[in-house]
Amino acid sequence: MSQFSEETPAGGTVDSNPDYWLEYSNLQKVKHDVIRWYLGGWFPKLTLGQWGSKRVLYVDTNAGRGKHLQGQLGSPLVALDSFLNHDFRDRILASSEVFFYFIERDKSNVNSLQQELKAREPLPKRIGVEAIAGDCFKVLEGVVASLKKEGKSLAPSFIFCDPYGFKVPGRTLRELMTFPRVELFVNVIWRELDMAIRQGDKPGMAALLDSIFDGPEWRAAIMSADHDQRAEQCVTLIRKKTGARWATTIRMLGENRATRYFLLHLTNSDDGRDLMKETVWKACPEGGYYARKSDYPAQQMLIMPEPDLRPLREWTLARLRERPHRWLQLHEMIRPTMWLGKHLNEVVRDLRKEKKVEDFDYRGKKHFSPSNNPNLKLREAA
Ligand SMILES: C[S@@+](CC[C@H](N)C(=O)[O-])C[C@H]1O[C@@H](n2cnc3c(N)ncnc32)[C@H](O)[C@@H]1O
Repeated sequence: MSQFSEETPAGGTVDSNPDYWLEYSNLQKVKHDVIRWYLGGWFPKLTLGQWGSKRVLYVDTNAGRGKHLQGQLGSPLVALDSFLNHDFRDRILASSEVFFYFIERDKSNVNSLQQELKAREPLPKRIGVEAIAGDCFKVLEGVVASLKKEGKSLAPSFIFCDPYGFKVPGRTLRELMTFPRVELFVNVIWRELDMAIRQGDKPGMAALLDSIFDGPEWRAAIMSADHDQRAEQCVTLIRKKTGARWATTIRMLGENRATRYFLLHLTNSDDGRDLMKETVWKACPEGGYYARKSDYPAQQMLIMPEPDLRPLREWTLARLRERPHRWLQLHEMIRPTMWLGKHLNEVVRDLRKEKKVEDFDYRGKKHFSPSNNPNLKLREAA
């Protein structure tokens, strides 16, 4: 039994929303795509890159039953398979251990998940997989408390929290984020959470919201009359309260195009932020950082939509009008925005071609890089 095991596993709790497993909408697909693609970059970055972590963990706090009733894989199998099928799997396992902890409260869901996991056996050495029956927040609180007591740290972890409802305790998220290289990916059930915030003065509700937001600040921080702006204010508050450097979201829209829930990625790592931005662009190639329920999940795009880079071009010209900037500086400056480095490179390349921008210290190499980091300056006429 591991540090993630609960002392008294809850028995027989009934899944409160069994219909969840009947459908597989585009929103569920996008959620799983984001996990698959992100982990595809995260595993090697943490183990083979500069961090060289000897052990990494994937934790699924609301793991579910493993498969939907029509056979589509649930998040535990998506995560496990993304590692088992990874091109660098054996290289990673040569120097690191990779553990998967799947926590699930409903006993029959745990049984079903265990069956699915059995079908993946035998697993290569140094991969650990454990399905744990219990309440995820009690399990996580127990883990944090015992690590603190022993003066130990949690191994670098990607923790996916995917409840049906919105009652996720903010204190637990904050405590998890204090460990180095722990990242959280939380499904925030915004429609219901927003309704609760609007009823925040009802008896009992305020105390619940204080626990979700780890304090009373939500009263003043989530004030806008607009549903989506309120969601942004909620993200800003959670980011601040958890102490995370970066918060990246992807909004999941219902039939009426309003945000039903959003997936929130919290990390302290610049690389994690960049990787999640790339992942979200892959999931939503038109930009906008949202997915629609009404899109048909199996639909393949014949022509991939191109992002409209005009706003980024204007942004770049505005920065260069202020003063010349090094190429890498501009890259740092777009990190808080939705734009990717490759978008900026495309804009800069076009501006150079059009002779609107000139570069100094250019070392004749085709591509810019940290060792070929020219100073970009606007030409007089631009
Ligand atoms: C949205 S489903 C999870 C779906 C799964 N993450 C996936 O993508 O395949 C939510 C799951 O959380 C479980 N659950 C609800 N409350 C829980 C709790 N406090 N601790 C652990 N599991 C819980 C439910 O039984 C259900 O299986």
